[in-house]
Amino acid sequence: MVRIFFGIILGILLVPLAGVLWLYYGKVPVAVADPPLPDEREITGLALSARIDRELIPHPPIDADEHTFIAGAHVYSEKCAVCHGYHGKPSPIGENMFPSAPPLWEKHHSGSVVGVSDDPPGETYWKVANGIRLTGMPDFKTQLTNTEIWQVSVLLANADKPLPPVALSILRGEAVSTGPALGAPATTGPIPPAANNPGDR
Ligand code: HEC
Repeated sequence: MVRIFFGIILGILLVPLAGVLWLYYGKVPVAVADPPLPDEREITGLALSARIDRELIPHPPIDADEHTFIAGAHVYSEKCAVCHGYHGKPSPIGENMFPSAPPLWEKHHSGSVVGVSDDPPGETYWKVANGIRLTGMPDFKTQLTNTEIWQVSVLLANADKPLPPVALSILRGEAVSTGPALGAPATTGPIPPAANNPGDR
């Protein structure tokens, strides 16, 4: 009886001790290029999608029209392209993160899905508003207005469809983005001086 009791206590102490030893000496993957822990993606993915399912807003409060796409493209080039890349130009920063920031304008290897065009806009809205912890995906609810978050989310949900040429050139980083300017603080982006825009006045 005493032996069994002793065994149980030892077991209870050994498990956390083994955990601590592993943290100190176990070569735990902490560098970006280290392999993921077993089932890491599956476990975190399950928790994330369960939370989003509970809080999903099913219908965007804005239309998927030209105005939304152009406004969303401004938001994207100002706030997202640094990690997720411009249209046709992958981001060296995003590629070298763990987890990496997926390119949102690239076709998936199989099928016709582009970026997150297979996700409902409400799911992307949740991710942009709340961010994804321990991944480097920031939350934008204090940097963008609610409307701007919807604009970029609806745009990304339509990434597999033909987009207005103006939106495309902003997404390629060709057009000088004057946005988002739709409610964002004026100090967040490089606002070109008026003198750089000949023909402005
Ligand atoms: C600092 C870098 C960074 C910035 C800036 C950033 N993201 Fe992310 N984003 C990430 C990373 C890293 C992930 C991968 C998260 C993961 O694997 O769970 C991610 C994931 C996402 C996802 C989920 C992709 C998927 O396959 O499910 C969406 C959608 C997204 N970001 C949209 C945006 C939008 C829109 C913006 C701009 C408003 C933005 N991100 C800005 C780093 C960034």
